[in-house]
Amino acid sequence: MKAYEINEFGIDSLRMVDRSFPKPAENQVLVKMHAVSLNYRDLMMVTGRYNPRLKTPIIPCSDGAGEVVEIGSKVTKWKRGDRVMPAFMQGWIDGDIEYKKARTALGGDLDGCLCEYAVFDETGLVEIPEHLSYEEASTLPCAALTAYNALFVSGNLKSTDTVLLQGTGGVSIFALQFAKLVGAKVIITSSSNEKLQRAKNLGADFLINYKENPDWDEKVQEITEKRGVDCIVEVGGAGTLQKSLKAVRMGGYIAVIGVLAGKGEFDPVMILMKAVRLQGIFVGSRQMFEQMNKMIETHKLKPVIDKVFEFSQAKEAFRMMESASHFGKIVVRISHDS
Ligand SMILES: NC(=O)c1ccc[n+]([C@@H]2O[C@H](COP(=O)([O-])OP(=O)(O)OC[C@H]3O[C@@H](n4cnc5c(N)ncnc54)[C@H](OP(=O)(O)O)[C@@H]3O)[C@@H](O)[C@H]2O)c1
Repeated sequence: MKAYEINEFGIDSLRMVDRSFPKPAENQVLVKMHAVSLNYRDLMMVTGRYNPRLKTPIIPCSDGAGEVVEIGSKVTKWKRGDRVMPAFMQGWIDGDIEYKKARTALGGDLDGCLCEYAVFDETGLVEIPEHLSYEEASTLPCAALTAYNALFVSGNLKSTDTVLLQGTGGVSIFALQFAKLVGAKVIITSSSNEKLQRAKNLGADFLINYKENPDWDEKVQEITEKRGVDCIVEVGGAGTLQKSLKAVRMGGYIAVIGVLAGKGEFDPVMILMKAVRLQGIFVGSRQMFEQMNKMIETHKLKPVIDKVFEFSQAKEAFRMMESASHFGKIVVRISHDS
């Protein structure tokens, strides 16, 4: 079967290889992969910025969706034909995160999804909501769950809250869709006015171009009449955190998620002077994933996919992510007709 492997770092070094067909052990399931979605983390993995000591060769990409085609002799949870998505961390079923659970992430600790067939423990899979295609479902395991955890598990977003979202990538657009489901107000930033219009079409209430307004925190203060926002989905990291601390309200909450804005300095004094809660988010457990899917199912929510690439075009998909020209998610379709 065909798979992509990271052997050396760099998008150009990604190689499509022939691997032996995987065989499920007694508690495992063989999944025919139909789609994979890309996360910024997968790009960092491929380019060596996530873990310079990554053990190679490894199949990249945490997120995928497919169909159960074979089950091990002791599998009770799944049958042939079931439509499934693997959990980002195969070993984090429920409860608190622990080091051992965290070391079971696909496309990093374990081989990922950018391949035609993969085996997973039966406990590492989740059923696809009925109204979603494989391509749509492939976007859920990391980006959607991270946004869901930030807003509703670690956070407690309410209809009366205002949330600030940074940029229009995968996590932020899911956060926009989820926040609007509960009726919260959304302020979203982007480097592109065209993307801001697309965010408005999805329900964003206030738009800020962070290139035209480098002091976007002041705009947030204006919009909120100097109160600040209740919640920030912080995907920028060190490069945006100082401004986020200015933009959040007293007693507000910042979900610390990403590193998109590169390096920066921040002064922790404002955390205490404003009594802000900073909470690190690491995707989520399988139990949170199932909980999120109920919400997605109830509201028939559809993920926003910018572009679908063919399996042979995986490098182009990574290049698109690197260019940051996308809005929402980038997907790679895995056709099995040859
Ligand atoms: N902790 C976790 O569990 C977890 C899980 C998922 C993702 N992450 C992290 O979260 C971040 C987002 O991931 P993703 O997959 O959603 O990324 P993505 O889809 O690649 O997001 C890219 C977009 O982010 C926006 N952006 C870049 N620099 C920015 C800045 N300085 N200020 C505001 N927006 C900026 C841009 O939006 P515009 O083009 O609109 O400007 C860009 O198009 C990454 O750092 C990723 O590693 C962490």
